[in-house]
Amino acid sequence: MRSSPTPEDVAKEGLLISRIKNGTVIDHINGGEALNVMKILGITGSTTESLSIATNVPSRNMGKKDIVKLSNRELSKTEVDRIALISPKATINIVRNFKVCEKKGVEIPILIEGSVRCPNPGCISNTNEPIKSRFAVLPEGKGLRCLYCESVIKKDLTSHII
Ligand code: CTP
Repeated sequence: MRSSPTPEDVAKEGLLISRIKNGTVIDHINGGEALNVMKILGITGSTTESLSIATNVPSRNMGKKDIVKLSNRELSKTEVDRIALISPKATINIVRNFKVCEKKGVEIPILIEGSVRCPNPGCISNTNEPIKSRFAVLPEGKGLRCLYCESVIKKDLTSHII
């Protein structure tokens, strides 16, 4: 006799959020971070994109995970790098005609350029100079270090994303 499906089975079978025809599924997002992923992707209440979100879905490997499904959209490398910073286990699935035709993990970049605002108001990257912010990504999740003024962002990284 078949036992009743677990919440994970339900999510996997697409009953929680249905499968998409074409687009990108961002899977294995850290539980609770889906809205920050949307912020990174520039999706606000007034955008017209077709998307589905599941938050805090049970996951065998992660405990809880979030999923974002975007129809008819692929992500740029900059967007994927930003997602890596807040969800290093995320997987990016490209779906074409209902099939996952490409699956890749994200990689935490060594250097972040132009995506994060330095918390130091006196930093040259916060002046009118035509200079992009530049941060070194510190090992073991210790945060980001500004390459101009040495300020370190230790936590709440998303609030600094431009
Ligand atoms: N997916 C989707 N629409 C499709 C195909 C897949 O929304 N047409 C979603 C699935 O629901 C899943 C993700 O894309 O969340 C990856 O699909 P798949 O590789 O089939 O699932 P898994 O094997 O469980 O992935 P993984 O091994 O990465 O956990």
